[in-house]
Amino acid sequence: MGLYSHHIFPRLMDWVMAGEEFRRLRTDLLSGLHGEVLELGIGTGLNLPHYPKTITWLHAVDPANLLPKIVTERSTRQSFPIRIQHVTAESLPYDDRSFDFVVSTWTLCTIPDPVKALREVRRVLKPNGRFLFLEHGRSENEKIAVWQDRLNPVQNIIGCGCNLNRKIDHIIAQAGLKLMTLDRFQMQSVPRLGGAMYKGTASRPD
Ligand SMILES: C[S@@+](CC[C@H](N)C(=O)[O-])C[C@H]1O[C@@H](n2cnc3c(N)ncnc32)[C@H](O)[C@@H]1O
Repeated sequence: MGLYSHHIFPRLMDWVMAGEEFRRLRTDLLSGLHGEVLELGIGTGLNLPHYPKTITWLHAVDPANLLPKIVTERSTRQSFPIRIQHVTAESLPYDDRSFDFVVSTWTLCTIPDPVKALREVRRVLKPNGRFLFLEHGRSENEKIAVWQDRLNPVQNIIGCGCNLNRKIDHIIAQAGLKLMTLDRFQMQSVPRLGGAMYKGTASRPD
């Protein structure tokens, strides 16, 4: 899996996820952010050009170090300071109540224990902080969901740990975050199995 997971998959992922519909969704999610921001699973840094200048710090975690030269190039073009740490979201190296926003895009599908990761998000959010998510997951259409279940083991292999069938809203609730907005839609440029989207905002319960 070394050649595939370290070289082929990240390039393929970067190419697919830099598409026009992905870019529009990223801008739409991130344009209102400000202050101290944490991104879970920064990947190849595709969100970087979409952060507004109103953010004061971007911290990011990802256990993998995907296409480091491209990530560095994308980072140096931004006006805000960026610190990336190669650790998992399930154990965040930050103090309680540190962030105004935590962002996750197309990452909760892959994190091995997403509930544990979101409990960490709940811990590191400031009292009025917000968790912003843009994720694919289990379809509302039962016929599609059945195929997502069937093909999940294959997706796990070709998508390097990606799951097609996670109920993102349930995972957020299970972690004790309060769902404030949830938009469900189908991406037009992605096959239906992988394009059932969950976009929204959650907060600490207190
Ligand atoms: C499909 S990629 C999405 C990358 C990026 N968020 C984007 O929108 O382009 C999923 C990312 O989740 C990362 N990941 C996997 N396990 C993780 C974990 N335990 N904690 C944080 N990130 C993780 C992967 O390394 C990968 O970069």
